[in-house]
Amino acid sequence: MRTFTTPADHVVFAEPSFVVYRLAAMAHGVDFTAVPLKNDTHDLEAMARAITAKTRLVFIANPNNPTGTYVSRTALERFLRDVPPEIVVAVDEAYAEYADAPDYPRALELRRTRNASSSSAPSRRSTGWRRCAWGTPWALPSSSTT
Ligand SMILES: Cc1ncc(COP(=O)(O)O)c(C=O)c1O
Repeated sequence: MRTFTTPADHVVFAEPSFVVYRLAAMAHGVDFTAVPLKNDTHDLEAMARAITAKTRLVFIANPNNPTGTYVSRTALERFLRDVPPEIVVAVDEAYAEYADAPDYPRALELRRTRNASSSSAPSRRSTGWRRCAWGTPWALPSSSTT
């Protein structure tokens, strides 16, 4: 949140989803839109519609916490194509190990759809955030890419 946004910006995430997205936005004073799930799953079309000129960051927990649902590769590819490239799309794959559906997408495999990087956060014992992938107009140093 602090890396990609200022209090003048806006973020989009699903509701309910990983509660830290909301807490981080509130702690950083960033306006947000929490888009209700549809059939317990991220409603990517509604999330795309929630994007404003101020939106800088979108969170997609895939699979989602707390519902355990996932967005398909087709749906995620479409979303990444539709969203303006200057908006960071953070695909949080903290629970990727539990997803075995054939159409479950690994965000880093969608590089051709959008520039993608992953954070290794080597100083943290985190399991989840290391698996965040995002589309950015720039690349992170190779030392922080897994
Ligand atoms: C969706 C999601 N992302 C990230 C995290 C954070 O993971 P970690 O505690 O490994 O940093 C969690 C933890 O509950 C989570 O549910």
